[in-house]
This record gives sequence, C-alpha cells and structure tokens, in this order.
Amino acid sequence: MKQSPKHLASASLYRPADCEIIAVCDLTPHEKLFRLRLADGKPLGHLPGHFVQVSLLGWGEAPISVASSPTRSGYFEMGVRRAGTLTGALHEMKAGDVIGIRGPFGKPFDLPRLRGKDLLLVSGGCGLAPMRSLIQYCEDQPREFGSITILYGAKSPADTLFKDDLAAWEASARFTCSRTVDRITGGDCYSGGVGLVTALIPPLEIDPGRTVAVLVGPPVMYRAVVEELRKKGLGTDRIVVSLERQMRCGVGKCGHCAIEHLYCCQDGPVFWLNEIENLKGAL
Ligand SMILES: Cc1cc2nc3c(=O)[nH]c(=O)nc-3n(C[C@H](O)[C@H](O)[C@H](O)COP(=O)(O)OP(=O)(O)OC[C@H]3O[C@@H](n4cnc5c(N)ncnc54)[C@H](O)[C@@H]3O)c2cc1C
Ligand code: FES
Repeated sequence: MKQSPKHLASASLYRPADCEIIAVCDLTPHEKLFRLRLADGKPLGHLPGHFVQVSLLGWGEAPISVASSPTRSGYFEMGVRRAGTLTGALHEMKAGDVIGIRGPFGKPFDLPRLRGKDLLLVSGGCGLAPMRSLIQYCEDQPREFGSITILYGAKSPADTLFKDDLAAWEASARFTCSRTVDRITGGDCYSGGVGLVTALIPPLEIDPGRTVAVLVGPPVMYRAVVEELRKKGLGTDRIVVSLERQMRCGVGKCGHCAIEHLYCCQDGPVFWLNEIENLKGAL
C-alpha cells in the first residue's frame, strides 16, 4: 500500500503533525502507554499493524506501532519501551504535552485475507502492542472472524504488558487467551503458565484449512513458533509476521530498513511469511 498525503496525519510525508498526549500510564517498569489525539481533531486514519514516526524536537524520531484499534475513536494509543534517546525523553512527558507524529506508515495486517478465518494471534514481549490493535479490532467487529486464540509470552510477571487487557481477554467468551512467562521469582504474585510461548501451541486444536496465524515478537520467537505451526500443518502462506528494522525516513526513500529488495517501512512491517522466508536476514 503506497502512502498518499490523503492518508496521512499531516499534508506532507516529512512534516510531523502536532499531537497532544491525553494520558500516560505505566505498563511495566520499562514501558508506558500513551493515549494521544491529533491537535487538529482528525482521526489518525490507521489500520491495525500501521506504525507512526514519533518525534520530539531536539531528541529525534523513532517508529512506534499504534497499539489501539481505529474502531476506538477519539484517540489512539502507543505502548513504548524506554530504549534510548527518543523513547527516554518521551517517558518524561505528561498529559497536555505535545509531540510530533508522521504517518500512519507501512502495510497493515491484511484484514481482507483474515476475514472469515480462525485467528491464532501469538505475541511476545513488546509485540503485544501492535497485536493489541488487531485484538481490539476483532473484539469490535466480532462477526468478521472465526474463533480467536491469543497466546502471549513475557520474560516475567513484572515484564507482562497490558495486564488488564489480558485479564479481560481471558474472561471474554469471544477469545481463548493463554499467557506464559519465561521465569518467576519468589516474590511474584502470578497464576499463569511458566515456559516459552511455543509450549502453548501443541495442546491447541487447529484446523489448518481455516486458520491464519499472526506472529508479533522478537525474531527468536518467530523461528520457534513457525516450527510448532508447521507441525500443526500451517503453511507459510497461512502465517503473518511483523518485522522490526532500524528506520529513518519511514517512507521507502532512505534504504535504512532494506531486507534485500523490500523496504520494511513500506512493503512491511507486516508480511506473509511466504513473501520473506527465502530473503537473507529477514528472520
Ligand atoms: C515498525 C516498528 C514498530 C515499532 N513499534 C514499537 C512499539 O510499539 N513500541 C516500542 O517501544 N518500540 C517499538 N519499536 C522500536 C523502537 O522504534 C525503538 O526502540 C526506538 O527506535 C528506539 O529509539 P530511541 O531514540 O529511544 O533509541 P536510540 O537511542 O536510537 O537507540 C537505543 C538502542 O535501540 C536500538 N534500536 C533502535 N531502533 C531499533 C529497532 N527498530 N529495533 C531494534 N533496536 C533498535 C539502537 O541500535 C540502540 O542500541 C518499533 C520499531 C519499528 C521498526
Ligand atoms: S526507513 Fe527509509 S526506506 Fe525504510
């Protein structure tokens, strides 16, 4: 999907639009959730899987996924890990502060090909942020999809993102939701599973003819999860991945995010696995 100014928060690919922080809350000791709205009052115009380039004058710019669904109007949200310069400065900001946003950019989840399918949504760590946008979309458009299974793995109970959402999805009749952590320590108050997210796949009953799996997480998770999905009969034309690369322009001009002939910022970040499985360094 090529970007056109019509589709963007500002009239130019390169000029950030002012965006007000409505609320900020802690998700974990390292991640915060930002609720935002464009200063001109218009909707962001995103779909699940899109990202924006977030900028702060003097601190730079970074790509961040939209973590809320376009079906939730009046605001959009981002879950941001404190990773370095820009995200560190962003973590110091409060409700009422203004940041810059370019986008939304990239290729979103392929909703036309997901419609009518059973969805297996597997995420690890920060990957739950973009996945949350898709989960909320499915929640708000319940007739568009078949059964929906959510699997999430975090490093520890303290590192688990969107705990309230996970509890609500576990309680919801619309979803089957299971989560796990790599490890627990003595002081943790936690009642879920312990082990890698891959361990949640073997017990599942999956109809490979009806199912699409969507994976968002670190590359190491992809290799292990794809292996388990192959055992369930899912081909690479039935598996979707969202990739992260270092980015600059976000709009297919600078080449920073290249994966062989593809630009992650424009041809992705969402890919069908069979589009990229043979590209060097893709996974
Ligand atoms: C499409 C896309 C969506 C993303 N969505 C989110 C999100 O929803 N939430 C979130 O917290 N983060 C997300 N990220 C990662 C985020 O962009 C980086 O953490 C951010 O660029 C770091 O910027 P900084 O200025 O704070 O850190 P810097 O000071 O630039 O760097 C800190 C460290 O992070 C490394 N780094 C920078 N960019 C990346 C990257 N893309 N992948 C891995 N390492 C990187 C640097 O090499 C350095 O070691 C996303 C990245 C992409 C490409
Ligand atoms: S970030 Fe510039 S081409 Fe992708």
